[in-house]
Amino acid sequence: MDSIVIQGGARLDGRIPIAGAKNACLTLMPATLLTDEPLTLTNAPRLSDIRTMAELLGSLGAEVSTLQHGQVLAMSSHDIRSFKAEYDIVRKMRASILVLGPLLARHGEAVVSLPGGCAIGARPVDLHLKGLEALGAELDLRDGYVHARAPRGLTGAEVSFPLVSVGATENVLMAATLARGTTVLKNAAREPEIVDLANCLVRMGARIEGAGTDTITVEGVDSLHGATHPVVIDRIELGTYMLAPAVTGGTVELPGGRRDLVASFADRLEAAGIEIAETPGGLRVSRRNGAVRAVDVTTAPFPGFPTDLQAQMMALMCTAEGTSRLEETIFENRFMHAPELMRMGAEIDVHGGVATVKGVERLRGAPVMATDLRASVSLILAALAAEGETVVRRVYHLDRGYERVEEKLSAVGATIERVPET
Ligand code: UD1
Repeated sequence: MDSIVIQGGARLDGRIPIAGAKNACLTLMPATLLTDEPLTLTNAPRLSDIRTMAELLGSLGAEVSTLQHGQVLAMSSHDIRSFKAEYDIVRKMRASILVLGPLLARHGEAVVSLPGGCAIGARPVDLHLKGLEALGAELDLRDGYVHARAPRGLTGAEVSFPLVSVGATENVLMAATLARGTTVLKNAAREPEIVDLANCLVRMGARIEGAGTDTITVEGVDSLHGATHPVVIDRIELGTYMLAPAVTGGTVELPGGRRDLVASFADRLEAAGIEIAETPGGLRVSRRNGAVRAVDVTTAPFPGFPTDLQAQMMALMCTAEGTSRLEETIFENRFMHAPELMRMGAEIDVHGGVATVKGVERLRGAPVMATDLRASVSLILAALAAEGETVVRRVYHLDRGYERVEEKLSAVGATIERVPET
């Protein structure tokens, strides 16, 4: 297991390229199960979660080839031999549940391990299951697995989600493409990853309207065909690297960056005193002079402030002028980075879903532990700003979602390296 070692204090200047979105790719890959023709994804990120999804699809009989150093995924599901997603893979990655809808829609059968809890909360999958049941799936939960059957195929229906779920919207949307008749998803998630999935499904021959709004209508078709689709850029990686010059000072160009993907986050960053400019090729973010101002943040489904940027924003607020209030409304246990940031000298008080951060003049390097994906990168951001050396342990969390973080940051002037943990 590796650690990341950072000497803080360097100002960052230069360019950081943004990869394709992990969360989009993790839902686009199972879409291969909907057709026996090839599905090719370009602009795929090179991450361990993507390899885990490839392993899962492979275990079902799909062929997944990685080309162009992993940036192209060529997939084919013409010979699916198994309908079972085993616990050993699902426990590594919750997004494995996304094979359920496609398997069921095309093969009428799926057995998928229930993902269980994770570091940031209980994270049930009841909405996925209720949505598929509404389309006529017969479900049976036993031995830690959901056994799903639709022997006569799925039938379109109205599915009204009681709360907004990205994963449940994706699972039911994929299933509905091959259901008989019309499906209407109400209170659907509006995340850019949903829009990207819908665009890819439409390229494959699906009939979908309303993706990106809270009502998505799907007219089922008999079969889908092959397609080539570029994965949308990773708005969470984008937001994370927008914060890098914000914590250290400097100017960073983010080619491919799109403000519309991170609008509510960008508004908060500007309120804190960070400059953001749209350039012909992307975004430019600068912190030239002066202190960062404390701002309040409440996470919400898209287009609100993303929960996946809350930990990173907290790293910035640790040295802001004043006191900020960060409220987490999506996951119940998503402040595990707070005690680690406090080991670096931050003043944070957590009560339930609210963290109150009193800005301090500077953070000091310390040994810290990554607890989940976004928490680990918030510690890296804090370390870039801190005085002295920080060692971030358990960086396998980081490798799930950030491609070559140490290369990207050292290219803009950070003193950061990966070392094998002893
Ligand atoms: C996705 C993202 C994750 C992000 C999250 C919220 C992927 C692979 N992951 O996760 O990075 O943090 O969206 O933007 O895309 N819920 C239920 N029952 C369900 C499903 C969800 O109660 O069946 C709850 C969850 O516990 C959570 C809330 O709904 O409190 C939102 O979760 P959801 O949008 O489903 O997150 P994921 O799709 O798992």
